[in-house]
Amino acid sequence: MPSFLVYSMDIIFATHNEHKAHEARGILGEKWNLKSLHDIGCESEIPETADTLRGNALQKAQYVFEHYHTNCFADDTGLEIEALDGRPGVYSARYAGEHCTYQDNVDKVLAEMKGMTNRKACFKTVVALILDGEPHFFEGRVDGQIIEKPRGTAGFGYDPVFMPDGYDQTFAEMGEDVKNHISHRARAMQALQDFLK
Ligand code: IMP
Repeated sequence: MPSFLVYSMDIIFATHNEHKAHEARGILGEKWNLKSLHDIGCESEIPETADTLRGNALQKAQYVFEHYHTNCFADDTGLEIEALDGRPGVYSARYAGEHCTYQDNVDKVLAEMKGMTNRKACFKTVVALILDGEPHFFEGRVDGQIIEKPRGTAGFGYDPVFMPDGYDQTFAEMGEDVKNHISHRARAMQALQDFLK
């Protein structure tokens, strides 16, 4: 076989977020033909009813595997704040209520932490991969502090109030390029990539 021929294998990323799919393609490389839910015409809202990140990631990956019978993976992320006993954790997306905005969530966290001196927090991402029908898990984590007032406009979610250890900028100030090298999600995806290669 000529050495320049590269065969890629299909893998589905159980996400509706094209930004995440793009990021994952960059990390996994050309050996994998990564398809998002949009790419396979799946517009369904996939259930996420577990009470752990690992449970939710597995639930999403299993849903896709059962419906499409293809190697696939899913991720789930939470922000764990030490002084709030690990909240919002697995409930990070809807911490301030069912139809809340990112700003509502940030406001709720800052209100709950008012006057607290322990500002330690971490983001955790769990990736669940189903490869040839078998589940595998990968975790990425980044530690930091919740600052008192939001700073920066890039990113999303809790980025304006999360300052990773070793940096003097929040995720929302440092911009995507730097964040995507050090983030919880990048680390979990990197662990997935190490396993798949
Ligand atoms: P998901 O599992 O990636 O959908 O993340 C759940 C929730 O965690 C999101 O709705 C955001 O509120 C928060 N989140 C996840 N990743 C990040 C991040 O990189 N920065 C800030 N917030 C995040």
